[in-house]
Amino acid sequence: MKVDFEEALRLLKNEKIVAIPTETVYGLAACYDSKKAIHSIFEHKNRPLDHPLIVHIDSPDWIKKLSINVPSYVNRLVELFWPGPLTLILEKKNVLDLITAGQTSVALRMPNHPLSLKLIEKLAKPIVAPSANKYCKTSPTMAEHVEKNFSSQIPILDGGSCQVGLESTIIQATQEDYVSLVRPGLISASQIEQAISRPCRVIEKNEIKAPGNKLVHYQPKCPIVVFRDKADLPYLASSSTERYYFMCLTELNLGPSRHIIEQMPLHPLEYAKQLYAKWQSFDEGGADKIFIELPPNMDSWQGIRDRILKAQSLP
Ligand code: TXA
Ligand code: MG
Repeated sequence: MKVDFEEALRLLKNEKIVAIPTETVYGLAACYDSKKAIHSIFEHKNRPLDHPLIVHIDSPDWIKKLSINVPSYVNRLVELFWPGPLTLILEKKNVLDLITAGQTSVALRMPNHPLSLKLIEKLAKPIVAPSANKYCKTSPTMAEHVEKNFSSQIPILDGGSCQVGLESTIIQATQEDYVSLVRPGLISASQIEQAISRPCRVIEKNEIKAPGNKLVHYQPKCPIVVFRDKADLPYLASSSTERYYFMCLTELNLGPSRHIIEQMPLHPLEYAKQLYAKWQSFDEGGADKIFIELPPNMDSWQGIRDRILKAQSLP
């Protein structure tokens, strides 16, 4: 059910949850000091309590209120990338254990969306917000996706289509000499390295508690199959009675068929904007399978490759 800004604000003040727009994906928001509302987020998502939430702030001033031992390069990252799709994991202070899954660190992000920033400003306190989807499923990039994910049980502040379309890049910034990449995104590891003149290391799986590090994540309803080579596709398509959707970067010609071919943008920023909305529309269109041409193994594509590879069905 859609609500206006004033109602969203009133609900959050009254310890309720509201789906809110950010520039990356829609989030399921609660005030950072409401245990009741935060519990409700975990219940609605079916998310295990040991997966920590990102704290969303409206100003870098919150860094010193919510964290300690902040490395010197963090200022530079904030200057370059905030507000925007970069989440920083820092050593925590004054943050509920419920938010951080009992860890000593907290994830902070300043979103680049006027409605979420204004909500935080009017509340005069941060909000926590995981993506507004059921655990391990595709993140919503439109208010209508949130409605479908939760069968209209959740109040939604509609802020239009998300301009980035992919969840934020997450780095752990608790060491002075390097940072660790926890979740790739559209701000790439090399952009971060350049900004801070320090290495951005790719973190080993399961080193940190993050649901994105599970084997399967971000999944739409219908199975995803990743392909690198198109040679077998015409035979596969012609011999099947199912309905396939193909997400391609290069040209694919199957001749006349019941299958659907989507030519995707060649630029990662444009591609990301469309990715989850396409999966949603393929599900609705009755796809039996989605075949995806894996984007190139280049720094700027790593966020998108990560989501596609984690969304594919395991054999
Ligand atoms: O773009 C985004 O980041 C979106 C929008 C709504 O802001 N949010 C989002 O939240 O993607 P969520 O909960 O779906 O994913 C957040 C990730 C999870 O993998 C979580 O485990 C990790 O961040 N995380 C949060 N706090 C952490 C911490 N202290 N240490 C390690 N990982 C953390
Ligand atoms: Mg998520």
